[in-house]
Amino acid sequence: MDLFGNTDINDARLRVEELTALINRYNHEYYMNDNSLVSDYEFDALLRELIDLEKQYPELKSPTSPTQRVGGEVNKTFRQVEHRFPMLSLGNTYSIEEIEEFEARTRKLLGDVPFNYTCELKYDGLAIGLTYKEGVLTQAVTRGNGSVGDDITSNARTIATIPLQLKPPYPADFEVRGEVVYPFDAFEEMNRQREIDGDEPFANPRNAASGSLKLQDSRECAKRKLQFCAYFVMGNNLDEPIMQTHSGRLEAAKQMGFNVQPYIKVCRNIDEIKAFIDYWDTERWNLPFAIDGIVIKVNQVPLWDSLGLTAKSPRWAIAYKFKAARVSTPLKEISYQVGRTGIVTPVAVMEPVQLAGTVVQRATLNNADFIEKMDIHQGDWLLVEKGGEIIPKIVGVDTEKRSSASQPVQFIRTCPECGATLVREEGEAGFYCPNQDGCPPQIVGRLEHFVARKAMRIDSLGTERLKMLYNSGLVRNIADLYDLRKEQLIGLSVDKLDVDNLIGSCGQNISTDKHINTSSIQAKGADNILAAIEQSKQVPFERVLFALGIRFVGEVGAKKLARYFSDIDSLMNASQEELAQVEDIGEKTATQIYNYFQTPEHRQIVERLRAAGLQMKSAVSKVSNALEGKTFVVSGVFSRFSRDEIKNHIEQHGGKVSSSLSAKTSYLLAGERMGPEKLKKAEKLGIPIISEEDYLKMIEE
Ligand code: IVH
Repeated sequence: MDLFGNTDINDARLRVEELTALINRYNHEYYMNDNSLVSDYEFDALLRELIDLEKQYPELKSPTSPTQRVGGEVNKTFRQVEHRFPMLSLGNTYSIEEIEEFEARTRKLLGDVPFNYTCELKYDGLAIGLTYKEGVLTQAVTRGNGSVGDDITSNARTIATIPLQLKPPYPADFEVRGEVVYPFDAFEEMNRQREIDGDEPFANPRNAASGSLKLQDSRECAKRKLQFCAYFVMGNNLDEPIMQTHSGRLEAAKQMGFNVQPYIKVCRNIDEIKAFIDYWDTERWNLPFAIDGIVIKVNQVPLWDSLGLTAKSPRWAIAYKFKAARVSTPLKEISYQVGRTGIVTPVAVMEPVQLAGTVVQRATLNNADFIEKMDIHQGDWLLVEKGGEIIPKIVGVDTEKRSSASQPVQFIRTCPECGATLVREEGEAGFYCPNQDGCPPQIVGRLEHFVARKAMRIDSLGTERLKMLYNSGLVRNIADLYDLRKEQLIGLSVDKLDVDNLIGSCGQNISTDKHINTSSIQAKGADNILAAIEQSKQVPFERVLFALGIRFVGEVGAKKLARYFSDIDSLMNASQEELAQVEDIGEKTATQIYNYFQTPEHRQIVERLRAAGLQMKSAVSKVSNALEGKTFVVSGVFSRFSRDEIKNHIEQHGGKVSSSLSAKTSYLLAGERMGPEKLKKAEKLGIPIISEEDYLKMIEE
């Protein structure tokens, strides 16, 4: 180290090598062997050190560095690339007879040649092909139409189970194909978070995997816990003995560092194939990710050529697809749930029935539209299905079992929670309760959102405690939280009625006192709650905005609003048109924001929050007022700044950033690869187009 704290480059090189090896080893143990060798904290510290060294010495940064996994590259559109070898699909079938036919046909075509089959899982995700040259990942491409796919290399690099650098021996130039899947637990965790954040949840892990690979910001992709399962190795000149069978190729891939699931089996005949299929038909529910069938391949690679291809799939492989498990069971009643935004969701309560390994008795009926379209009558036998997705779905009605007297289900007209008359807007699929400020689940839901991690982070208030505070009458809206006093909190507990119910339903001899003790708030608990509330006053403005729970305003939208308006007053007084100018805020959201602040009760809440000391101003530290009164639209890629950096820069110098060009735009700040549409529009509106250099000069002046 020199006098200025800089590390000598040679020392740095050694340390970079050391850190790379350590981090790679920890990653490998963690993702492949489920083994944590260090704490998250230690791991992050090592990664941070490596990131810092690479920043200080860019020449030491390698494309295979584990720091690449945190992402950073932004893709506006994905480059289309041609596959070196077409990405074929498989013939598939739901019928065991067709699998028998496939096996008999293959045996006949191959005659006396000895061979066997591999059976493996058919992962339900998104197919990608990875090219490796001299052991280094050079390109990742989606299947696309089989001939041409999207270059998603920067996102693929963030997936922990995709090796960036292979372990030798490996072929000089080859491709590994496989499926990107979203494991169930990570998928559920992400969807829960999306709901809290006001984002639309993904329908299933496959859609989530596919959506994640198409994220423009690879840093976002890095946060999704995707997995890559390798199922195919291909290339010219793969002559080594191990490469002559498919099972050998997968074994080799495993040695190189790929995630190859251990459930591959070499089968000698149709009986072994059928046994494998039968086993996984039920066992699949115990896997941590979704599969939708079994793939059977001829194991001896040199035989593939002689079997050849049909129009679009090889004759040496076939996929057996699992049928969705389905049962029918009588509908007992419909219960209705009211969510944070007032949406009323009908839920079918059915006679409990066994389905693919679990007992099913409840399933969502989505909304009034769904009930009408399915024409569900009271007491109907409902057809329930479980596909690749764990969560059972109602797919129809067994009308043969319907009694002639039964009447169509009538959706409730009043809110089951507060009695308000439900509303269904023109063209909407369902009903909602309009009583925002008087309907308990809506209020508690909003409180939950307010205290959530990504909002005000008041950790010591969980759902139970919020319900307690609501039931006791102490907290009826988010601003009430800031008036709480210690003596009001001490002794608060689940009300007597709930305690009785709990004991009644458990049927156990728990003493009432003990129960109350565990759930009532003590002096120390009260202190913790008040301290967390106090601390939330430091939460930055953008998160306060998000915490308000305005419909359609998610985490990102709140950030953009906070940046554009810089304080709550200018936001509260903005017109709908001005709101719609903000990046990521569409007209629908603009209307919601506008209406929110037009409601006197909401303004009152904001005033109380302000008086309590919450942050109501953006913390952007102003560097100058050089751009005061100027609005910029930013487009393309810049050399000195990332897109976010240049936006921050504009704001630090007093300017505003907007997403769409309008008469109010002062400049279009154009980087490289800017869209032609924007250019045309700017020219039409007569808006000056400036470069990064022009922009910097403007500031210097
Ligand atoms: S082999 C030429 N093996 O299923 C053979 N495919 O149409 C190439 N899939 O979208 C495919 N698991 O992505 C193979 N173990 C597995 C698979 C698998 C899932 C997908 C594949 C493709 C579809 C086949």
